[in-house]
Order: sequence, then structure tokens, then C-alpha cells
Amino acid sequence: MCGIIGYVGRESVVPILLAGLQRLEYRGYDSAGIAIQHHGCLEIRRSEGKLSNLEAVLNNGDFVEGRTGIGHTRWATHGRPSEQNAHPHRSGDLVLVHNGIIENFLVLRHRLESEGYRFESETDTEVIAHLLSSAVKRGGRLDEAVRQVAHDLHGSYAIAVMSLTEPGRIVVSRSGCPLVIGLNGTGAFLASDVTPLLAHTREVVYLEDGDIGILEESEIHILDSDGQSKTIPAETIHWDAEAAEKGGYPNFMMKEIHEQPQVIMDTLRGRFDYETGEADLPDLSMTKEELLSAKRFWIVACGTSWHAGLVGKYLFEEMVRRPIQVDIGSEFRYREPMIQQGDVFIAISQSGETADTLAAAREAKRRGARVLAIVNAVGSTLAREADGVIYTRCGPEISVASTKAFTGQVIALYLLVLHVGRVNDVLSAEEGRWWLDHFLMLPGHVEHILKQESAIESIANQYAHMNNFLYLGRGINYPIALEGALKLKEISYIHAEGYAAGEMKHGPIALIDKEMPVVVLSPKDRLYEKSVSNLMEVRARSAPVIAFVSEGDHALDKVADHVFAIPDVHPLLTPILFTVGLQLLAYHIAIQRGLDVDRPRNLAKSVTVE
Ligand code: AGP
Repeated sequence: MCGIIGYVGRESVVPILLAGLQRLEYRGYDSAGIAIQHHGCLEIRRSEGKLSNLEAVLNNGDFVEGRTGIGHTRWATHGRPSEQNAHPHRSGDLVLVHNGIIENFLVLRHRLESEGYRFESETDTEVIAHLLSSAVKRGGRLDEAVRQVAHDLHGSYAIAVMSLTEPGRIVVSRSGCPLVIGLNGTGAFLASDVTPLLAHTREVVYLEDGDIGILEESEIHILDSDGQSKTIPAETIHWDAEAAEKGGYPNFMMKEIHEQPQVIMDTLRGRFDYETGEADLPDLSMTKEELLSAKRFWIVACGTSWHAGLVGKYLFEEMVRRPIQVDIGSEFRYREPMIQQGDVFIAISQSGETADTLAAAREAKRRGARVLAIVNAVGSTLAREADGVIYTRCGPEISVASTKAFTGQVIALYLLVLHVGRVNDVLSAEEGRWWLDHFLMLPGHVEHILKQESAIESIANQYAHMNNFLYLGRGINYPIALEGALKLKEISYIHAEGYAAGEMKHGPIALIDKEMPVVVLSPKDRLYEKSVSNLMEVRARSAPVIAFVSEGDHALDKVADHVFAIPDVHPLLTPILFTVGLQLLAYHIAIQRGLDVDRPRNLAKSVTVE
């Protein structure tokens, strides 16, 4: 997720762009840049790292005057963070900024290179710049070129482009990514969301997919995808800028919980071939032979990422019958792990900077393993040191408690396991298509759960005063019991334990009484009856029981104190759905206790020390 901004009007544009980019840094901050139209020239300034680096460039004598400009703050998806990969990107007389993912950029890049275009970056964005340049050269206005090029682009985009051939004009368009425009007495504005515009106007227009906007100093024209003029009523925004950064949500954690359907779609996007039922993971950098010859597979991670790794264990074993060893980073690095040459070592990390996970990956590499990173932060240390990468495409996860990153990690594992299964011929093309069909239904299932948030909030409010919780799960949902307990611990400061349900009778049952709510995950799977037995055991000891079940299962309605149903899906697809419910439970308990869910005490977003 990146942030784009633009202005054309009577004011000096650089201060407007920089202030706007500051408001958009929460959308990505690994590099930034601006482009200004100035006396018939295009001035471009870009820098790696935080926006302050760009500000330093502009404030140390390299300032540019101008009244028309665009800007960008980047969360890298294609191409590591660098000045060269930073936006804006230029082609001939035009320059553009882009938020989104162009899935077919490699095919388009090869076509453009064969037409003689030279690429300066590793990004998918530069492809759009050259396509537009090529279209403009064939004659026609910039807005017509945008409309033509849109037909070539597969994926998602929000773009702002300007050209020396059309001074005082910015053309914008979107498909699958947000873009909002506005007008005040000084000029016209564009941005990825309303946050930067609120300093200038509260009357904004949200463009729709396929729309093209033509921004000039005193007017904005909107065209539909057929090039016909259209009118979209302006909306009045009542949020303040801080609320707008959170998309209108009260905090980043709730925003990120609700971003999970989009994260699933973005992480899946462009990474499978439905015809063959195969995953398409070009950044894996592992040949079929390397995967087939690997004697052992390993997963190592910490915290929530370790819980995702434990889910991966069940996926490897049950989807493709592949044994795999899963370890906590801080344990793995100090054992004498039996890593062999050619083993596949999967390191999972949202930040890509967790010291224990990095050290484990380095140790594995030293012993001859091929290291694959499942990571969110492009260009992070783990991403750079790994042999192969699967990015989770979650955008920045601001809240310290990991929510959408976990979901992205599990989706990445689904794709990886599918890939291994198809490479090993353990899964047929038809089975591969079946799994892809069901992966693609997950966003809708998560939306369905999010729509029932109030039911979970009601449960949370009844138990927010409790001091101890027990979470029970079996099979692939044992890690989810661990994750649910961790989420509660880290944002509500309530002591909570996650336990394998079958293990509860070997000791923890001594803790059970009416003061210890027990959350039981009981999907309709082959372990259902066992889970119900565990539920009855805790019920018999007066514990309040909160049961998470599959839709259509009413057998526990009279047994549990509270029942929350998730969509009835294949058991291996339940982890994300249960997790979203448990995220909401932990969130609302913490809110009820008046705590700061985004910045819990004692915690850091990235534990870069031992
Ligand atoms: C999860 O809510 C915590 N913030 C923490 O457990 C986190 O998952 C862990 O520190 C690992 O971080 P990473 O994914 O960035 O490696």
C-alpha cells in the first residue's frame, strides 16, 4: 500500500505535497518522491527511507518552485526500497505516481523493452509510465492515453500522471485502489485518501473504478471508462486528520482487522494459475528439483508469526503429506538443529527484522539450508538475506498487536503448500483448482464475520473484568488457541493460556472455575466430538464457556454460555476465520478495559534484540 498526492493551482506546490505525504506516511514509508512542473521542465526529487530524507533534500537549497506537482510515499511491493525504485517514474515528457500492484508487469515490460524502452527501476509502476508515453506519442490527450492503457493493466492501481505537453493539468485514474479528489479556492487536489486533503477542503469526490479525473487549477472533469463525462456528488468529511489516517476507525488495530479481506485478496493476487491449479511464486527462487530433493522442511518464527508457522505444519502434513519441523526462533538458534544441506528453511516474520528469527535463518543458511522468507516488509533484512521470498502484501501494520500480518502469512503458506503439492504431484490440477476456489472465498467469509462484530463485542463486555482465560483448540486450531490467548494477553493484560484441548485434563483443568472463562474452538471436523467432550469437562466445573463453532451447528447452543459461528468451511480453512473472531474478542475486551490497543505497555512492534 502506498500513498499518492497531487495539486494543481495558484499555491506553491512543494509545501502542499510534503505536508500531504506526511499525512500519508502510515501507508508506506520506505522511500518518497515528488515531481513538479516548472517553467516547461519536470523537476523530480526522490529519496530512500523516511520522508524526512526527501524534506532534507528540498530544504537544503534544492527547493523547486512550481504550481503543479505529484508526490508519493512508498510501501515496496516490486523492487527493494531505493531512490531508483522510488516514485515518481518518468518516461519522456510524462511522469507518474502509482499505488497498487500490476500483475502482468513482466509481460508488459518485455514488450516495451522490445519496442526500445529502457527501464531504470525494478518496479511495476515504470511499465505504466512507458505505456502512457507510447500511447501519447501515437497522438491524443493524456486522459485518452490513460483510458487506452487501462485495458492493458491487470491488477490494481491508482495513478496520477502529468506531462509537459499538457501543463497545468494532472490526470488520475483508479482500479481497485482508492483515489479521492477535491477542489478549493486555490486549486485541485488528489490523494489516496482524505487525510491530506482535510487541510484544504472537506468537500471531496471518491472516484470509482475505471474513472478518469482531469484536474486543472479551477476545475475537475470526470470521465467514465468509456470516456463519457460523469458527475459524482461530493461528500463532506467530518473526520479530523488523525481519524482519517485510521480510515475512520478508532485505532489502527481495528482498521487492520477490517483490512484482512483486502490483505487476503492482495496476497493471492496474481500468484496462481487457475487453469493448471498451481501457485505462481516467481520470487521463491527455488527450482522444482530443489524442492523435490529437500530432505527436510523447517519453519522458524516468533510470536504470532510462530503461530502462523504452526498452522503451516498442519497444512504441509494434511494437504501434501510433507513432514515439517516448526520451531521458535529463540530456541532454534541455540540448539544443535539437525539441518542438512539442501533443507528448505522457512522464516516467517512481519517486520523481517526480528533478531531471533534472523539469527535462526543465518544459522540455517550456514548449515546449508535454502532460506525462504515469508515477510511483509519489502527490503527488510530477512527479505534481503533469504534465498527466496513470498511477500504478504499487507501494507504497513501499525498496531503492535499483529492481526492482518498473521492472515497474510497463512495465505502465503496456503500458496506455498499448494505449490509444493503440485510440484510433487501430490495434488492434481483439479485438487489445486478446488483449493484455489476456496482460498478465493476467504475474503467473503472474513467479511461475514466482521459484520457480526457486535455479537462478539457483547460477549467481550460480559467478561472484560475477568483475570484469567483459557483457550482450547485441537488440530490445526491448536495454534489458533495460542494466537487467541496471545492477542488477549498483549492488549488487555489479562492472563490467558492457549492449550491443546486434549491436553487440558493433564493439569490445567485444576485451574477451571467460574472465574475462568474458557474459549473452545469446535469446528465441524473429525475432532468435533473430542472438542465437545472437552467443553463438557470445563462446563462441569462451572467455567463460563465461549464456543466458536461452524455455522449450522446448534448442538452447543444449550451447553455453552455463548456460541459464535464461523462459515462452515473445510477444516484446513478455519484458522483465519477463527482468528478474526478471536482478534475481535481480544480487541473489545481491551477497549472495555480502557486500554491503548495500538501501543500496549512493554511491547515493541519489531523485537530487533535478543
Ligand atoms: C504479535 O501480536 C506480537 N506483536 C509479536 O508476537 C510478533 O508477532 C513477534 O514479535 C514476531 O514479529 P515479526 O513477525 O515481525 O517477526
